[in-house]
Amino acid sequence: MIDRRKEEHIILALLEESQYGSSWLDEVYLIHNALPELDLSDIDLTARFLGVRVSAPLGIGAITGGTELAGRINAALARAAEELGIPIYVGSQRIALLKPEIRWTFEVVRQNAPTVPKVANLGAPQLAKLPEEELAEWASQAVEMIDAHAIAIHLNAVQEVIQPEGEPGLKGVLEKITAVRRAVGRPVIVKEVGCGISKEAAARLSAAADAIDVGGFGGTSFAAIEGARAQITGAWLHKRIAETFRQWGIPTAASICEVKSVYSGFIIASGGIRSGLDGVKALALGAHFFTMSYPLLRAAVEGRIKEEVEAIMMEVKVAMFLLGARKVEDLARAPRVYGPRLKGWIEQRDLKC
Ligand SMILES: Cc1cc2nc3c(=O)[nH]c(=O)nc-3n(C[C@H](O)[C@H](O)[C@H](O)COP(=O)(O)O)c2cc1C
Repeated sequence: MIDRRKEEHIILALLEESQYGSSWLDEVYLIHNALPELDLSDIDLTARFLGVRVSAPLGIGAITGGTELAGRINAALARAAEELGIPIYVGSQRIALLKPEIRWTFEVVRQNAPTVPKVANLGAPQLAKLPEEELAEWASQAVEMIDAHAIAIHLNAVQEVIQPEGEPGLKGVLEKITAVRRAVGRPVIVKEVGCGISKEAAARLSAAADAIDVGGFGGTSFAAIEGARAQITGAWLHKRIAETFRQWGIPTAASICEVKSVYSGFIIASGGIRSGLDGVKALALGAHFFTMSYPLLRAAVEGRIKEEVEAIMMEVKVAMFLLGARKVEDLARAPRVYGPRLKGWIEQRDLKC
């Protein structure tokens, strides 16, 4: 059952209808610098990911694991991550904790990407239900399975409400996140999966999370994906809720500003980042790093993952050149103008961005 769901997520995520809304990164206009006083070859793309030096400020987002197809996708993504020197997340590992025979679909990431930072993944709704000893065991096993540098805990309230087999119970999650951090002794990333993180939520995560991955609105929509699944199974109420809440969420650009205004830890941008230029805009807004999921899943399925990541890296480099930013950190100072929607959001929410 859970493996069929994983397979459906991959297939449905590739449909055009599963990309929904705008990340508002098109509301960020970075100002061209005609006099950058740099050569393209001077640009230093290297960045730090939770204390580890990597070759670019971008990583492969959490996608999959748990089935034959997922295992092949993970192996291809991991090979590209290792070759290009960038971090890689895996999808939720709960399935492998319940069914040890499919652990290999995650272990391929450790085998194919031995040196780059790897990020384990568990879901908050499942953690919320576990007693502390079991939680510690799950988290340690998830980390060990892929020799993870960090563990991501995903918050996915919308998805849990919409999917017929969902578990929409998030009471006590903050405490459980703290328990995971104690158990694994590695950085904990708290991430959304397409609805973004507000400044109120980020402030509450301050003591519990080493990093926040905003997972903003405007890219892959789990409301759309779960709505399509509900349509297939005839679960009309879930389909209706999916349609109503398809536009729910904080656009990625706004969510970065929300989190940056109150949170002093490591900020990762994701959700609807579709080019290296989008990524650079996210870094200019205040993120330290960015990840992409859908574009890299598509590239993996089409057998051109390395080319895609190389193209994104080149786009980041070109954008830095055109802004006169020699180092990734310089992007935080890039002159910019915000469009009216983002400007209004920043003002009304009293954000520093
Ligand atoms: C097929 C698919 C499966 C996903 N599974 C997970 C998951 O298991 N855990 C998780 O934290 N995020 C998962 N995500 C969400 C992504 O990590 C990311 O937050 C989201 O797709 C937004 O990024 P994007 O617009 O670049 O795709 C998944 C995304 C896709 C496309």
